[in-house]
Amino acid sequence: MTPRRPWPLNVEGIAYGGDYNPEQWPLEVQLEDVRLMKEAGVGLVSVAIFSWAQLEPREGDFDFAWLDAVLDRLHMAGIGVALATATASPPPWLTRKHPEILPRLADGTVLHQGSRQSYAVASPVFRNYALGMTRRMAERYGDHPALAVWHVDNELGCHVPHDYSDAAAKAFRHWLRARYGTPAALNAAWGTAFWSQRYDSFDEILPPLSAPTFVNPTQQLDFARFSSDELLTHYRALRDVLREVTPDVPTTTNLMMSTATKWMDYFSWSQDLDLVANDHYTVARDPEAHIELAFSADLSRGVAGGEPWMLMEHSTSAVNWQPRNRAKGPGEMLRNSLAHVARGADAVMFFQWRQSAAGAEKYHSAMLPHAGEDSDVWRGTLELGRRLRALAPVRGSRVSADVALVFDYPSWWASEMEGHPTQALSYPDEAMRWYRALWQRGITVDIVSPGAVPTDHRVVIVPTLYTVDDSAAARIAEAAHEGASVLVTFFSGIVDEHDHVRLGGYPGAFRELLGVRTEEFHPLLQDETLTLDDGTRASLWSEKTRLEGAQAVRTWADGPLEGLPAVTRNRAGRGSAWYVGTRPDADGVARIVDALLDEAGVAPVAAGLPLGVEAVRRRADDGTSYLFLINHTHQDVDVAAVGHELIRGQDVSARLTVPALETAVVRER
Ligand code: GAL
Repeated sequence: MTPRRPWPLNVEGIAYGGDYNPEQWPLEVQLEDVRLMKEAGVGLVSVAIFSWAQLEPREGDFDFAWLDAVLDRLHMAGIGVALATATASPPPWLTRKHPEILPRLADGTVLHQGSRQSYAVASPVFRNYALGMTRRMAERYGDHPALAVWHVDNELGCHVPHDYSDAAAKAFRHWLRARYGTPAALNAAWGTAFWSQRYDSFDEILPPLSAPTFVNPTQQLDFARFSSDELLTHYRALRDVLREVTPDVPTTTNLMMSTATKWMDYFSWSQDLDLVANDHYTVARDPEAHIELAFSADLSRGVAGGEPWMLMEHSTSAVNWQPRNRAKGPGEMLRNSLAHVARGADAVMFFQWRQSAAGAEKYHSAMLPHAGEDSDVWRGTLELGRRLRALAPVRGSRVSADVALVFDYPSWWASEMEGHPTQALSYPDEAMRWYRALWQRGITVDIVSPGAVPTDHRVVIVPTLYTVDDSAAARIAEAAHEGASVLVTFFSGIVDEHDHVRLGGYPGAFRELLGVRTEEFHPLLQDETLTLDDGTRASLWSEKTRLEGAQAVRTWADGPLEGLPAVTRNRAGRGSAWYVGTRPDADGVARIVDALLDEAGVAPVAAGLPLGVEAVRRRADDGTSYLFLINHTHQDVDVAAVGHELIRGQDVSARLTVPALETAVVRER
C-alpha cells in the first residue's frame, strides 16, 4: 500500500464553509457575515476568487485594505481562509490593453470580457500578469494567520477548456515538438498519409480549427491532451510562485469531476495538488442525481489516490444555470453533503456563503439566502454545521471498496468523435450503466484510471475503454490473472494511444484476455433493440463475435447475429474475463452484475437494504469504522448496526431506524 499523504488542511474536524465574496457587500453586512458564520460553525471560506479588478483597479495600483480587513475579521473569529490567487477573471483594463489574451473558439469567435474567465490560458502575456498577481497575493498574505490553503484560479477550463487563439496554436506546436521530436514521427502518429495532410514542419500545424469536414482524429485527440496539459501548466506556474513564497502552505484548485465535465484529464493533475478539491452540482432533471453525485465523489477519491479530499463547492438548493432550476427538497442538501463525506470528503463547502443581490448568479442558492435567517435554507446551514461537528472523528478515515471501475478521460474524448460506427455513444452513460447497478446493490466502487487498476479488488469493470496503451491493457489483464473478475464492455481496446486501430479483429488490446474475436461492428439504429437469449433487450450496439477460448454467457436471440455470442466469459489465471458486446437494458446489466458479484464473492456494505438507501463504510487507521446510511426514500428504514450513532448521539445495540430522507452515521467500534 502506498504511504498515506497527511491531510494538509489545518482546520479542525470536517472543514465547513463556502465561497465568500465580501466585495459585493457593504461593511455592516460583512460584519453580520462573520457573526452568522460563527453561529453556523463555519471554519473555512474561499476568498478573493474573482477579486482581481477590486484588488488592482488600475494597472499597478493595488487596493488591499479591504481584503486585509476581511482576513483579519475572519481570523479573529477563528475562521480559516482558502485564499485565491484572484486570477480567475482578468480585469477589464487588462483585456482592453492586451486584447490578444482573449480566448478564441474553433471558428475564430473571440470570447470577450464582461463575463468571466476571458483569458487564453496559453498566452504568455496573460500568464505574466497572473504570475504577478499571484506573487502579490503570496507576499501580502503568506504570513496571514487565517491562510489555510491556496486556491489557484478557479475551475480551470470550466468555460474555455479549448482555446484556439494564436497563443494556443504556438503552445500546441511546442507541445507536439516535445511529444514527437520530428514531423516524420508526428505524421506517422497522426496518419497524415490520409487526405493529403502530411506536414513538412511543425510550423504548418494548427489547432483543429473549423474545417470542411472531419478533422484528423489524432490531431483532435492530441489537442485535447494538450489543452488539459496547458491548463495544468498554468496551475503549476502559479503554484510554483506560491511554493516559492510560502513553502509551508498547501495549494489546490477546484476540479469539476462529474459525468458532465469532459475535457480535463484530472487523473494526470492529481500529483500536482497538495489536496484534491472538487466542485459538484446535481442536475435537477435527473431523478437519480444522488447516484451521479456518488459517482462524482468516488471519482474524486480515485483522483485523490484513495485519500480524503475536499468538496470545495456544491449548492444548498437550486443553481441558476440549468434550464429549470429546481429547489432542493426536504433533507436533500444534508443527504448530498453526507454522501460526499461518506465517500471520503473531509471538507464540505458551498458556492456560496451569502446569496448575491446582483450579477449573473443572483438566483443561485447560498448558505444564507435572500430570505435571510428565517428560512429553511439557513436552518439547513445550521443543521449541517451541527452534524459535521458531530462527525469530526470521521476525518482521515478511508473508504473501503471491493470493486473498481476504470474511467479514462482520453477514452471519453476519443470514443465520442465523429466518423465512428455510431454517433449515439455517450462514454459517461456507459460508465454510469454499470456504476448505477452497483450503487443500487449497495456496493462501493473505487473509480480508477487504466494505468492504476488495482490488483487487489475482486471485481474490475472496464466500460468502453476505447483507447488503451499496451501497459494499461497488460495491467487490466494482470488484475484478472491475480484473481479479479474483470468485465470489459463493447468498443474497448479498439485503438492505441495514437487512435490507430489494433488490427486483426476487435477488441484488439483485450482479444486474448477475453478469448473472443469480433470481425465487424453492427451498431443499431435509433430506437432499434434486439433480444438476448435471457430476454434482455439490447440497444445501440452489436457485433459479430466468435469465441476463441471464451464461453458464451448470452447469445443473440434475434436479428442478423442470431445465435452468436453477445456476452462471454473466459478463464484468466486465477480470475475471469467477461465481455459484453452490446448495451443491455437495466435488467440485463443487473443480471450480469449479480453474476459477477456472486462469482467474486462481493457482498453489499449493509445487507438487506431497500433500493434507495445508500450505505458506505469509512475505516480509520486505528480500526474504527464508520457506517454511513443515507435514506433517499420516503419510508423509514430499519438497519442492522451496532455501535454509536454520531448525529443523534445514541448507542445502537442491534438495529437502527433511519427516518425517511434522513441520514445516520454509526461508529462501529
Ligand atoms: C462554479 C463556480 C462558482 C459558481 C458556481 C455556480 O462553476 O466555480 O464560481 O459560478 O459554479 O454553480
